[in-house]
Amino acid sequence: MTYSRLAGTGGYLPEKVLTNAELEKMVDTTDAWIRERTGIHKRHVAADDETTCDLAEHAARRAIEAAALNAGEIDLIIVATTTPDQIFPSTACLLQQRLDIHGCPAFDVQAVCTGFIYALGIADKFIRAGSARNALVIGAETLSRIVDWTDRKTCVLFGDGAGAVVLQASATPGILSTHLHADGQYGALLQVPTGVSKRATEDGDSYPYMEMQGNEIFKIAVNTLGRIVDETLAANDMTQADVDWLVPHQANQRIIAATAKKLKLPEDHVVMTVQEHGNTSAASVPLALDVAIRDGRIRRGETVLLEAFGGGLTWGSALLRY
Ligand code: COA
Repeated sequence: MTYSRLAGTGGYLPEKVLTNAELEKMVDTTDAWIRERTGIHKRHVAADDETTCDLAEHAARRAIEAAALNAGEIDLIIVATTTPDQIFPSTACLLQQRLDIHGCPAFDVQAVCTGFIYALGIADKFIRAGSARNALVIGAETLSRIVDWTDRKTCVLFGDGAGAVVLQASATPGILSTHLHADGQYGALLQVPTGVSKRATEDGDSYPYMEMQGNEIFKIAVNTLGRIVDETLAANDMTQADVDWLVPHQANQRIIAATAKKLKLPEDHVVMTVQEHGNTSAASVPLALDVAIRDGRIRRGETVLLEAFGGGLTWGSALLRY
């Protein structure tokens, strides 16, 4: 039986940092409100000439190096993003060219903040089926491009970044299970109401900005993530005590705390980067994973639960033995 294992991780944050104090000058908000309601202190924002593919490339090169591979050994590239450089080619194809890889499948996955979990689930299935041996899986976003910087309800929450993993075929597991879900009936709670084919809203607005009913999303996120913890543990015949680490989507400290409580995990076994990164959508889970692997917190043999929730609505989890 072939499994997929994490062979290497990488992350990248743009240089420019936007603090809560700076946001106080842009919209009617306070550092205290943002910290108390979300846990966020600062976020990184891409430079004007920096694109999602630029961020993805840095993270990808770091992950490939950590896996001790040459780029030419990568045989599958999946980029999870909601903010691709162009309509097409896909960001995965743009990245493939930059890495001088030719011929392997390369495509984007769009599941908003759950995108990386979706991409990981797809790559895991490619590897288990024998269709790939070294998959490069990336979450990369320049969310700052679709944030309305005059809307205090959303602009304080998001940041830019990229995280990457190399998944490798292995005789020992690796990824134990992935669980992917969506329910389009809640789509309007978190959306960019215009795009490529729908060029304007009923009111005639055409610029693609994010809109969110934060309070509703908050409640659904807490309930849904609680359910997916149960589903993931049951599928693996495990209890909360079998999980060493929670690496959650970094949207809000209070949502993360609720999931940690469900898992009965102490705070020091929950990887939190939301204070420093904000919500980087598809990049948030692989960025947090990379931080905790590189600083030595997550060690080989430990069991790690990844989970995410986002627009769509979409949600998902991956349980893995590192
Ligand atoms: N600064 C100051 N006040 C703000 C503010 C800001 N940046 N944003 C909203 N407020 C105000 C609201 O206008 C409201 O004022 P009112 O009571 O006078 O109407 C008040 O704060 C409370 O708003 P509410 O939306 O109920 O706050 P909240 O405690 O739910 O926190 C979020 C708001 C967005 C932080 C929270 O709902 C959240 O994190 N939701 C989930 C978002 C998410 O995870 N989205 C991505 C999913 S991937």
